[in-house]
Amino acid sequence: MSIQQLGQNELVAHEHSLILAIETSCDETSASVIRGGKHILSNVISSQIDIHERFGGVVPEIASRKHVETITLIIEQAVQQSGYKLKDMSAIAVTQGPGLVGALLVGIVAAKALAFALHIPLIGTHHIAGHIYANELVHELEYPCMALVVSGGHTELVLLESEGDFQVVGRTRDDAVGEAYDKVARALHLPYPGGPHIDRLAMEAASSITLPRAWLESDSYDFSFSGLKSAVLAVINQSRMKGLELDEAALARGFQESVIEVLVTKALRAVKHYGAKQLLLCGGVAANRGLRAVLTERCNGEGIPLLIPPGTLCTDNAAMIGAAAHLKLKHGLFSDLDLRADPGLSLEQWSIHNKQ
Ligand code: KG4
Ligand code: ZN
Repeated sequence: MSIQQLGQNELVAHEHSLILAIETSCDETSASVIRGGKHILSNVISSQIDIHERFGGVVPEIASRKHVETITLIIEQAVQQSGYKLKDMSAIAVTQGPGLVGALLVGIVAAKALAFALHIPLIGTHHIAGHIYANELVHELEYPCMALVVSGGHTELVLLESEGDFQVVGRTRDDAVGEAYDKVARALHLPYPGGPHIDRLAMEAASSITLPRAWLESDSYDFSFSGLKSAVLAVINQSRMKGLELDEAALARGFQESVIEVLVTKALRAVKHYGAKQLLLCGGVAANRGLRAVLTERCNGEGIPLLIPPGTLCTDNAAMIGAAAHLKLKHGLFSDLDLRADPGLSLEQWSIHNKQ
């Protein structure tokens, strides 16, 4: 990404800036207008879940095609609901990565066309920075802080020493937590995405089937969920082979308890180790009631301020992309019109202090 520096007057104006943000990294087409990086004027989200549900997961080609069909309308609605006009926008933000390359491309092409036609800056934005900065749409952040990112594609502990400065201190070595939820749900013949269904079953369960916890090395903040997923599949296969009735709710609860204990224990240890002033929970799995409850209780017990965005800001949406893009706007860091989709975009490289 190349950099354009704005003049001093324009830097001051960021508090009143209007960012039109676009998100198409997976199966949600979303557009949003954000004022001053913090105020949501509109956040229109069109989910494709009902289309992908019958395939048991996101089909990339179908996702791209659906984005193409809906993006123009979604952008129009977001601008209209904001009460402003396209000509009032200060910048266009778009998810550059990580995500499905074909899906990302649709948002990027739309964003480039708008930035070019309106003669305003383009801001390629990191999807996970968006999930983290969704918190800033509802809370004041204090640094250093620690983010626990739990989504369908990511499970990471991210340290923010200062605003827009990301350091990944732990990550999954195999499946992302949301992916593990979806795979376990699929094995139980539950609809896609499976996370909310496992969450509901776990809440209803009268008992729990104990499953292993993957702690890895004692000082590691990394995660691993593939062993747990295999253990769940083994329980399901054994009961089917023996012709026994499986207590699916107890299995869902056992799976959820194992996931939560590892996530919460490592997150709290990381908060203490790095002297973080707040713990931020974000990503689609942050909607999990069990995780929210245990994390809230443990953080209260240990006096750690915990921030969790409301449900609609936890799953993919463009408002969070606008919030993260505002960090770049403040510093006058913009993308060229030859911006490319980057499915493997690094969060650390996207940091404000890593100007390149
Ligand atoms: O952040 P997100 O919307 O998309 C990605 O960037 O991946 O996260 C989607 C993931 C899916 O795997 C879905 O099953 C999971 O979030 N999810 C949940 C819950 N709600 C959504 N997982 C567990 N419990 C939930 N209540
Ligand atoms: Zn996401």
